[in-house]
Amino acid sequence: MHPSEAIKEKKSDKLKGKKILLAITGGIAGIECVKLARELIRHGAEVTAIMSNEACKILSPIAMEFATGNEVITELSGKVEHVSHDADIFLVAPCTANTLSKISLGIADNTITTFAVAFRNKIMIVPSMHLSMYKNSFVQQNIRRCEDKGIIIVPPRVEENKAKMADIETIVEEVIRCTRADKEGKKILIIGGATYEAIDDVRAITNFSSGKMAMALAKEAYERGMEVMAWASFEMPGYIKTKNFRSIKDLIKLIEKEKGRYDVAINCAAISDFTVEKKKGKIETGKEISLRLYPAPRINPMLRKIAKVVIAFKLEEENKVISKVGELLRKDNVDYVVANTLESIGSNEAKIWIVGKEGVIKEAEGKKEEIAKEIIDLV
Ligand SMILES: Cc1cc2nc3c(=O)[nH]c(=O)nc-3n(C[C@H](O)[C@H](O)[C@H](O)COP(=O)(O)O)c2cc1C
Repeated sequence: MHPSEAIKEKKSDKLKGKKILLAITGGIAGIECVKLARELIRHGAEVTAIMSNEACKILSPIAMEFATGNEVITELSGKVEHVSHDADIFLVAPCTANTLSKISLGIADNTITTFAVAFRNKIMIVPSMHLSMYKNSFVQQNIRRCEDKGIIIVPPRVEENKAKMADIETIVEEVIRCTRADKEGKKILIIGGATYEAIDDVRAITNFSSGKMAMALAKEAYERGMEVMAWASFEMPGYIKTKNFRSIKDLIKLIEKEKGRYDVAINCAAISDFTVEKKKGKIETGKEISLRLYPAPRINPMLRKIAKVVIAFKLEEENKVISKVGELLRKDNVDYVVANTLESIGSNEAKIWIVGKEGVIKEAEGKKEEIAKEIIDLV
């Protein structure tokens, strides 16, 4: 067994059966390609590397043969590889200014550019170059030309005066999105994490929510091609557009400021049921104090103004959870409630019942990623 077989589908089977041609050009970020190829394999992909002459000076084809378990294509032969080698995605990572510009113009003067011209499925380009090259007006025009032709551009990370190749997690996520997208054009808002209600300038009342459910929902929605906005109290991956909140007041401000309208809003945040009057400075230590808690305003009904469909979460003890849902559906005027049990808070797994006005429509138990799929299926 080749070593690449041992890692296949170790992370997921989202790319199972998908063939990826990984075209590596002569950018220094080529040294990341062993890791990139292996991460794609961990999600089930079959990867074959194609390398330009300049790429072979930076990274050995032997390393890529080891990484992928497949022979590396470095030149075209009588086998006419560019027409005989079919794949789902032609992924150019890293892509130099040179190759990007040639692809945008349909030039086919080497192995990689000839493959690009002959390729009939999705092409994805991950540019990587010095910032001055990236800002060059010809390069910018050629990026737009590629986009106009339906080529997916994964934007670089601009750091240290470089337009660096997007990180591996982002590239893999974009590849998965490209193969899974079945809900393109839908706008979704995911709200997740814990609220922090300050009791003084340094302390707060909060809860044990980890944000894992929101993270799983945002990733799933993104992979399914949706336009995702997350409001979160924790850090989301860079490819998810995120606005951060801490308190209920912050959430209300976000709702008031929201100009757009979402197709769906899913609120799985653990929002405090109480607010507290904040004291200035730091409450003295060593003294007994009493805090007066006030019932917090309900966020779910406010989401109606900004989303066509509202899905709320309800966390309760298992024997009470379903009975509490009916009340929430009515009181908060939401379309669906995802009932879940106390064990799910902070955990990687959950047990849920999706309840609509007509009663329980779905039950699921398992990893939060699997639960997220069941919920996004409904949307
Ligand atoms: C060490 C080294 C690093 C390079 N890094 C980049 C890079 O990150 N991006 C880029 O556009 N060109 C880079 N170049 C220049 C390209 O290798 C050069 O434009 C070459 O013609 C690209 O050929 P290719 O697109 O066929 O691989 C680098 C060159 C060297 C010597």
